Amino acid sequence: MTLSAAALAAIVDSLAGLPYGKEAVDQRTHALQTGWHAKRAGADDELLLAAVLHDVGKARPVVAQWPGLPHELAGAEFARAHLGERAGWIIAQHVPAKRYLVATDPGYAARLSAGSVASLRRQGGPMSDEEASAFGAHPNSAEAVMVRRWDDAAKDPYGPVLPIADVLDAYGRVCTGRDFADQRPLL
Ligand SMILES: [Fe+2]
Repeated sequence: MTLSAAALAAIVDSLAGLPYGKEAVDQRTHALQTGWHAKRAGADDELLLAAVLHDVGKARPVVAQWPGLPHELAGAEFARAHLGERAGWIIAQHVPAKRYLVATDPGYAARLSAGSVASLRRQGGPMSDEEASAFGAHPNSAEAVMVRRWDDAAKDPYGPVLPIADVLDAYGRVCTGRDFADQRPLL
């Protein structure tokens, strides 16, 4: 179901004030700063939206709709329902992508924030060689890794953010030609 622009904006706004661990940004700023990095890197619309929405599984309306799921899987369900399978896979994999990078990029772990290092253990630690080769073989793995790097860079309270209008414009282009009949807001 394609969301109305107002419904998507409300979902992003519902991230405002939600803490992001011990980071100095809230979840809305984190989302829009991840999107800013995606745009700067030349991401296409669906990849940019996957970047903005990678933690949407923490938004209250999404938690309510998919209760009990880890945030990356609830976010993936949201993306599959309202955006597309590619974005859904990328969002589902943004936590495994961190485990992949720790295992394969020697400098990556050294650049993680203290909070991200702490969460790595809960997330399963570095991937094994077998896990890393299976992850790297997926056609969208490079995109999941890019989102992960933008995610890691999006913790600056003084840093730039993508305007919400750019998010809504990207969504409108991705959904052009889809069924806009159901315009009910989710909230
Ligand atoms: Fe994130």
